[in-house]
Amino acid sequence: MADNENPRPTSSSDWSSIELKTLTLEASLEQQLIYARDLARAFAELEAKEAQRKNLLEKVISAQEDERRRIAIDIHDEVLQMLGFNLMKIDLIERLWEKGDYPLALEHLRGLRDTIESAINVLRDIITELRPPTLDVQGLLPTLDEYLKRFRNETGIAVSLSSRLGRRQSPTVETLIYRLVQEALVNTRKHAAATAVSVDLAAVGDQIQVTIRDDGRGFVVEEALRNSLARGSIGLHSIIERVRLAGGECVIDSAPGAGTTIRFVVPVNA
Ligand SMILES: Nc1ncnc2c1ncn2[C@@H]1O[C@H](COP(=O)(O)OP(=O)(O)OP(=O)(O)O)[C@@H](O)[C@H]1O
Ligand SMILES: [Mg+2]
Repeated sequence: MADNENPRPTSSSDWSSIELKTLTLEASLEQQLIYARDLARAFAELEAKEAQRKNLLEKVISAQEDERRRIAIDIHDEVLQMLGFNLMKIDLIERLWEKGDYPLALEHLRGLRDTIESAINVLRDIITELRPPTLDVQGLLPTLDEYLKRFRNETGIAVSLSSRLGRRQSPTVETLIYRLVQEALVNTRKHAAATAVSVDLAAVGDQIQVTIRDDGRGFVVEEALRNSLARGSIGLHSIIERVRLAGGECVIDSAPGAGTTIRFVVPVNA
């Protein structure tokens, strides 16, 4: 390297300019190291989030399969059995009729009506569980009202529903809210040992705010969220994720002995 390309400092001001450059170089190296570390951390976080999302998706798919299996079993064990039984009864009635034993034939005919009625009720329950017909026709409020009444009758937990919505919402939003409230109430029934639960709906600007509160035993939210996926439980995560996908926000507020409040907002045009 030629001397004039790397001139030696001749005065104290030259020295300080070199020190300054070295310092600047060190500073920018350090800065780059910090950037690199931040980037690596961000990537690791992204990867962990991706893995969590994949895990959740797998759980959702297997939960859907479980649900289908359960419905298939319900239809098989209850409805098909009843219809098969009815076929046998019809054969019996035919034979009695041919023999001229009309009183007994009539008795079996009445029994036939009862089992058909039971089959219709079971089918109605299954259909309502799959998708309540009232949700499309009458909307969210009457459907939730119906659901809460059934919930009270089956669990003995007192229920209250209040709404300041004013009007019907889009089918997407109504279905979303119905499913999320249902998920929260299934948890209340399963885990809370509550005596009362309330559901409140309100329109706030261009958002719908939903609050579900129970007076049950409560739980440590962070811990439950951490442990639930490993156990194959997806309820709370699915509430959070579905609200997030709709562009809303969800807060779960609970503590042992203090009941549970789930509050979420979703945009009206989600
Ligand atoms: N309202 C509640 N009161 C008391 N504990 C609750 C309540 N909701 C949830 N938890 C606790 O949080 C845990 C996680 O709930 P989550 O809904 O994610 O799973 P799960 O109900 O156990 O299973 P899944 O919803 O998949 O059927 C529950 O196991 C329970 O311990
Ligand atoms: Mg649950």
